[in-house]
Amino acid sequence: MSNATISARKNAAISRGVGMTTQIYAERAENSEIWDVEGRRYIDFASGIAVVNTGHRHPKVIEAVKAQLDRFTHTCHQVVPYENYVRLAERLNGLLPGKFDKKTIFATTGAEAVENAVKIARHATGRQAVVAFTGAFHGRTFMGMALTGKVQPYKAGFGAMPGDVFHVPFPIALHGVTTADSLAALDKLFKADVDPARVAAIIVEPVQGEGGFYEAPRDFVSALRKICDQHGILLIADEVQTGFARTGKMFAMEHHDVAPDLTTMAKSLAGGFPLSAVTGRAELMDSPNPGGLGGTYAGNPLGVAAANAVLDVIEEEKLNDRANLLGSRLKQRLEALRDDVPEIVDIRGPGFMNAVEFNDLKTKLPSAEFANNVRLKALDKGLILLTCGVYGNVIRFLAPITVQDNVMTEALDILETSIREVRA
Ligand SMILES: Cc1ncc(COP(=O)(O)O)c(C=O)c1O
Repeated sequence: MSNATISARKNAAISRGVGMTTQIYAERAENSEIWDVEGRRYIDFASGIAVVNTGHRHPKVIEAVKAQLDRFTHTCHQVVPYENYVRLAERLNGLLPGKFDKKTIFATTGAEAVENAVKIARHATGRQAVVAFTGAFHGRTFMGMALTGKVQPYKAGFGAMPGDVFHVPFPIALHGVTTADSLAALDKLFKADVDPARVAAIIVEPVQGEGGFYEAPRDFVSALRKICDQHGILLIADEVQTGFARTGKMFAMEHHDVAPDLTTMAKSLAGGFPLSAVTGRAELMDSPNPGGLGGTYAGNPLGVAAANAVLDVIEEEKLNDRANLLGSRLKQRLEALRDDVPEIVDIRGPGFMNAVEFNDLKTKLPSAEFANNVRLKALDKGLILLTCGVYGNVIRFLAPITVQDNVMTEALDILETSIREVRA
């Protein structure tokens, strides 16, 4: 079997709407490496888009899932419940920031977690409107799309979005938008478009993911908290991409001195198995009536077993510390390139949620071409990278936090060579 023959079959059989960044078909994967059907090995700096922070097939995760497979794979928690679902909820309630009683629900995807967070916020406040930010990504379901702050390819052509969703510019100093600018825009929104007394929630990514790996400034997050408290609005932190040690803390909101009312999680929660969650203030989480939340597969036993193991691994292997160490290594290596590669305009990111941003030298404008060429060169040399950003000019690094030192060194060498070759 070759990548090319499967690719041809894929083109005939699968909607082009499912965009793909590579045409290498996976045969097997282990920690930070993937082997394709032709036997070629790749270093995976994408982690299936931030899903395997604990590495592909972490032995503890696989062991937990195998044990669960041997017991039962599906009963539907709403019909015949299981203990490890309760245990996982208890653990998340204890781990999420905020000194108040918390409760949790499980779902399957990140978008579903976002949908549920909005449902809970609306039910608990009796209000309708939701405020999100430009550049945000919250998923591909209708509310997820509506909240997403990027039209192409996520919203265009998909018709009317749910109403009462408003966007405010996300503060990105590099692009000339300060915290004060964003807060002024929010104030204007409340004066011109929507009464804050009608707003159920403000949803924010502590570090924008698809939008370009921009960290929400500390003063911005604390101002949002204040504004929410002032108007009885709930603050939702979307930690789908930032959670589970990626930023050097279990949750990115731990970098801030305020807590959200509700948090959405998915991706690395279950280390490669589909599971998502919403955790929040107990009284809010209890607002919807029994049956209003849930789903047939919500909190699938295999995902729940994996997630309990993922939490153990993060703790046992001190992955927060490891994320900080790996992130500094990566950023140092990129910083050393700055003099030779003036296209680099920014190197950033907390923990191991890092990114490098490129501009065109002549126009000084964002260069998606430079970023994509680096990605392609690296892929050619066996390193899988992802781009992101509203302008597509950012390379984001989402390697497993369990990546071995020698594999990390190899990846950094490939990255440096690729950037230098695109420059030349
Ligand atoms: C911050 C954020 N929220 C929500 C989602 C949607 O998650 P899913 O693709 O699992 O529906 C994503 C996915 O990239 C995300 O990064």
